[in-house]
Amino acid sequence: MKTQKSSLELSHFPVMLSEVIEVSAPSKGGLFLDCTFGGGGYSSKLLQYPKTKVIGLDQDPSVFSIAKKLEKKFSNRFNFYQIKFSKINSVLKECVDTIIFDLGLSSIQLNNFERGFSFKSKDKLDMNMGMSDISAQKAINNLSENQLRLIIKILGEEKEASIIAKNIVKARLEKKITRVDELVNIIEKSKKKKFLSNINPCTKTFQALRIFVNKEISELIEGIINATKLLKPGGKILIVSFHSIEDKIIKYFFSNYSENKSRHSRYFPDNQSEENILFKKYYNHVIRPSKKELSINNPSRSAKLRFATRSENKFVYPHHLIQKFSNYLDIEAINV
Ligand SMILES: C[S@@+](CC[C@H](N)C(=O)[O-])C[C@H]1O[C@@H](n2cnc3c(N)ncnc32)[C@H](O)[C@@H]1O
Repeated sequence: MKTQKSSLELSHFPVMLSEVIEVSAPSKGGLFLDCTFGGGGYSSKLLQYPKTKVIGLDQDPSVFSIAKKLEKKFSNRFNFYQIKFSKINSVLKECVDTIIFDLGLSSIQLNNFERGFSFKSKDKLDMNMGMSDISAQKAINNLSENQLRLIIKILGEEKEASIIAKNIVKARLEKKITRVDELVNIIEKSKKKKFLSNINPCTKTFQALRIFVNKEISELIEGIINATKLLKPGGKILIVSFHSIEDKIIKYFFSNYSENKSRHSRYFPDNQSEENILFKKYYNHVIRPSKKELSINNPSRSAKLRFATRSENKFVYPHHLIQKFSNYLDIEAINV
């Protein structure tokens, strides 16, 4: 049975789809957990293999219509839950063969200017991916200059965070900042080196605000820990990431909790190291988009795919992962 693709689905191009399919080998069948359903690109492809079952998650209610269509078409093989992936244990009790994360924002979200993720938008500064209780507008207008500086500097890795934070506070004294283009103006006026780089001067500040509003680093850390708890021995966890903070966390998790590394890590006392082995040997392998994909799907340029294979060991909570990245978690915990 063929179903017509909606404009939502058509506007979305799944990043590194063929690489994800090659690593996850759905032709063998098994239960797949697609933690970031988005436009359903990965889930739809996985369901084309007749022996698969797929569970899709997304925090964004706007993907419901796509998910419902798949649930109808594959009623015995696909289920969707609108939850944050950190809460996976609340809906799933059985173990799975493969877990996939494709982090960040979908093009469906980016291209809907009312959501306020795009620099091109003139709409309200929202940036809520679906289940956040704050908006970028609330953060921009209520946080102190120092809190804004920390968010922009640490979560956006923006060198000119101090001047941007200062100018945000100056501007909001005159008038509340409510729209995306107002913030874009403030950032463009603040940045000295705006014409020296080929990335948009707003990229890093927007990344910082989006991460802060949606608590993306806390979600990532909790999500990968809770997902690993559900992964069968020999099962694979695949993660597509888009910026260096995400990649640093994933690399640390896979490396330091793998058979070949955990024994030698200075963070783990020798007598506890056996318990810390969650993954088989991990060699820091990164898969990047092909030249062909780069030529047709520009947003994939910063994507990195890493994967690890679950060891036979029983699950032990990886506390060091949280300690190691507590600086990001502390910033995300700032109250607005
Ligand atoms: C890059 S898109 C995924 C695209 C998808 N792989 C596809 O093929 O269409 C990321 C999706 O993950 C969702 N997402 C991001 N963080 C999430 C979280 N913590 N919990 C649940 N969904 C999340 C976003 O709402 C977005 O729809």
